[in-house]
Amino acid sequence: KPSLEDTLLAAIRTIPDYPKPGILFRDITTLLSNARAFRRAIDELVHPYAGKKVDKIAGIEARGFILGGAVAHQLSAGFVPIRKKGKLPYETVRVAYSLEYGLDEMEMHRDGVSPGEKVILVDDLIATGGTAAAAVQLLRQIGADILAACFVIDLPDLGGRDKLEALGVPVRTLIGFE
Ligand code: PRP
Ligand code: HPA
Repeated sequence: KPSLEDTLLAAIRTIPDYPKPGILFRDITTLLSNARAFRRAIDELVHPYAGKKVDKIAGIEARGFILGGAVAHQLSAGFVPIRKKGKLPYETVRVAYSLEYGLDEMEMHRDGVSPGEKVILVDDLIATGGTAAAAVQLLRQIGADILAACFVIDLPDLGGRDKLEALGVPVRTLIGFE
């Protein structure tokens, strides 16, 4: 059986110069369309939490919805979407965060998580960690107990793991790309 690392390396496609010149874009659509690789990634993400009490998975738009939905099902947890502003119909909590150019905002329904619930944050990739740190802020506004933040891909040179760990959130990633 190929190693986890080899399976993921073979299943993740790299697109040079997307969305801008000089960027190597790590494309997980090829992982998602590969049944064995998709299952392997989800099994690996959930395995430290199997049999533990997890109330909710919070997934970050957009690829965190796909992975987070599968993780939630496997852990028999609920799923809560964290979205770009203006997409959620009910009352929300909102946080501003910085992107490469300028600011954006993300939101979560205020009744998506109850105070004290145990939550795992899921996304496909952590780069600078700005997006995930904003999601941590939202969840903490609601009083969530964040057990961990999980990602398939880490870009360690961009410092996202350190940023989240400085907030007291344990980080789990499956593969790193320089
Ligand atoms: C990507 C990725 C993470 C975020 C990571 O999403 O899926 O959510 O960027 O970057 P950061 O660690 O530097 O914040 P993107 O902004 O491309 O949004 P999308 O999934 O809706 O296309
Ligand atoms: N892939 C997907 N999302 C990203 C990337 C990437 O390489 N870099 C920053 N966000």
